[in-house]
Amino acid sequence: MTDTANSYTGPERVFSGVQPTGNLHLGNYLGALRKFVLLQDSHDCIFSVVDLHAITMPQEPGALKENTRQIAAAFLAAGLDPDKAIIFAQSSSPAHMELCWYFNCVARMGWLERMTQFKEKAGKDKERASVGLFDYPVLQAADILVYKATHVPVGEDQKQHLELSRDIAEKFNREYDAPGFFPQPEPLIKGPGARIMSLKDGTKKMSKSDPSDLSRINLTDDADTMARKIKKAKTDPEPLPASMNELSDRPEARNLVGIYAALNGCEDQDVLNEYGGQGFGAFKPALSELVVESLAPITNRFNEWLADPAAIDAVLEKGGERARAIAAPVISDVRDIMGFWKKG
Ligand code: AMP
Ligand code: TRP
Repeated sequence: MTDTANSYTGPERVFSGVQPTGNLHLGNYLGALRKFVLLQDSHDCIFSVVDLHAITMPQEPGALKENTRQIAAAFLAAGLDPDKAIIFAQSSSPAHMELCWYFNCVARMGWLERMTQFKEKAGKDKERASVGLFDYPVLQAADILVYKATHVPVGEDQKQHLELSRDIAEKFNREYDAPGFFPQPEPLIKGPGARIMSLKDGTKKMSKSDPSDLSRINLTDDADTMARKIKKAKTDPEPLPASMNELSDRPEARNLVGIYAALNGCEDQDVLNEYGGQGFGAFKPALSELVVESLAPITNRFNEWLADPAAIDAVLEKGGERARAIAAPVISDVRDIMGFWKKG
């Protein structure tokens, strides 16, 4: 088989998206936002508030607009510079929806039926899930490929969706005899913080949708709330050990060590070198201080941006224009490749 997929020779480009649903938390920051900020200096970057994905679950129209501004504000507060990275609302670049339709006819039912996120979100009553929820990963592939993005910084939970994007790109290139037209987007997952777990259950990921607010540190929490949540975080009575393999069956302890390491920019083992032998009575206050110190500047900037919605709107508007300009020629090429009529 000729390698149609990997013959892409275009420039590198980064794309990622975050849904405007609920509060952003420490997992979003470490798994996604912080990586975005690191990439903006070395790459062309496009970061989207994916409102079209949000409506795969019921959304209240007034809240959707507000939540879209909130995520944009969080991007900016985390350190994204709108003069470097493109920040925009997904729905303001309709090319995503157009490419999604073309991809719907490339992707196979069987591929989508394997998606674990659909199974989780649809729950037991699959019949009542929206068609959009089932199609969610195809829209995600369109998000990435309508800009021919080559790299996608995401948390671990998005790995399967990225594999699907690669399969769609590969099948499109092969079936339409367009070698190297779409790149095979690579997930950027590795690194500390790829999978931050709930503070209440070390086997579940920290999530916006967890009913217990104590399970997560929100970027909007004040310092006292953050400290209280860490104090109440589930742990066990044992002191921290000397090495990471002794933490294999202590998921809560492992998670807290992982959070410390990710925020401190060191290895998990370095944390144990410092705190091994000490109990959580000593470790939790140190962790609290680090979390508050790391997030407080972001929370402050976040509130400043939120107080100026017109400034956020200006960023989104300019971002939308830039995004549409990149997507337009790609869509035009796709239409030619697929053989759609145009005036000759
Ligand atoms: P979402 O909130 O599901 O739209 O996710 C936005 C980004 O945050 C995605 O890149 C996710 O992979 C990432 N993310 C969400 N939860 C976590 C977590 N608990 N740990 C690490 N990354 C996460
Ligand atoms: N599905 C992603 C999430 O839940 C959000 C998303 C939508 C995304 N489109 C994307 C992430 C494209 C990366 C690239 O977190």
